[in-house]
Amino acid sequence: MQVFVTGATGFVGSFVVSDLISAGHEVVGLSRSDAGAEALVRAGAKVFRSDVNDLDRLRNAAEAADGIIHTAFNHDASDLKQHSENDRKVIATLGAALAGTDRPLIIASGTGLVQSATGQPVRETDAHATSAVFPRAASEEAADALIDQGGNIMVMRLPQVHDTRRQGRIRWHIQIAREQGRVAYVGEGRNRVPAVHVSDAARLFRRALEKGEAGARYHAVAEEGVTLREIAEVIGARLRLPVESITPEEAPDYYGWLAQLATLDLPASGALTQQQLDWVPTGPDLLTDLRETDHDAT
Ligand SMILES: NC(=O)c1ccc[n+]([C@@H]2O[C@H](COP(=O)([O-])OP(=O)(O)OC[C@H]3O[C@@H](n4cnc5c(N)ncnc54)[C@H](OP(=O)(O)O)[C@@H]3O)[C@@H](O)[C@H]2O)c1
Repeated sequence: MQVFVTGATGFVGSFVVSDLISAGHEVVGLSRSDAGAEALVRAGAKVFRSDVNDLDRLRNAAEAADGIIHTAFNHDASDLKQHSENDRKVIATLGAALAGTDRPLIIASGTGLVQSATGQPVRETDAHATSAVFPRAASEEAADALIDQGGNIMVMRLPQVHDTRRQGRIRWHIQIAREQGRVAYVGEGRNRVPAVHVSDAARLFRRALEKGEAGARYHAVAEEGVTLREIAEVIGARLRLPVESITPEEAPDYYGWLAQLATLDLPASGALTQQQLDWVPTGPDLLTDLRETDHDAT
């Protein structure tokens, strides 16, 4: 299969590219930079040079593909709403290019966009938040619109994706701890983040491409919930900083812009996904990778 991968130079996308090539697929990776293009060629991919928001060019690349994995996203937190609305247009363009075919489009999203009302891990079938509440949900809404039109569209919701270099949003927890000279968690620190090793996530994208069902939501979840207290203790040990509990009222002072996210409990289940796609995560867990991380380089 010739697979067009957006975000092919990113953390998740670069692993997706290597996994697809190892499994015998031909990959065309999107890159907007020379360095990204060179990395893709080294990985054995072809390169499509463009900005993802150049929708005419994007449509041309999408029309030539047998399947698409969309992982590009601008994570600049200062303008999340605009970047999320741009992603809505990107997804609509990719979907339009495949309209009337059964060629699959897999869209990256996050398990954090599904909120647990009960404290139980959220499931693949639970409804996502709206973009009025969480701007990033624009991508899920764009997927809904394409699914309603009958496209072979799937959404891959990712938890904290990790290896020993990156652990999703945990890198911001490390940076804040270093700036603050201490590692804090709120209350008893029982709020949780789900996790998956990046190589397991990459393999799951391929499984969905090869075997997934139109309209499905998948959760790339290996661990349903690692507590913020456990994470703080590992960061504290690695940075040799004191670890302490703070009150919810103290959270904005300590966490700054991350305060709202840092106080949410976000457990997620991947049980349905594991069963439907016969996916067994085998990579190291989040705390193991976090212990191995070079915290001074994060
Ligand atoms: N990593 C996680 O823990 C996690 C958790 C939940 C959801 N997700 C979602 O999973 C997806 C992949 O995440 P990631 O961690 O791999 O992100 P990342 O490392 O930040 O990579 C983002 C990719 O998007 C590309 N990109 C951004 N703006 C672009 C533009 N205007 N034109 C062309 N390319 C552009 C980047 O290209 P450059 O290399 O040129 O910058 C890069 O390849 C995203 O949708 C993300 O929101 C990730």
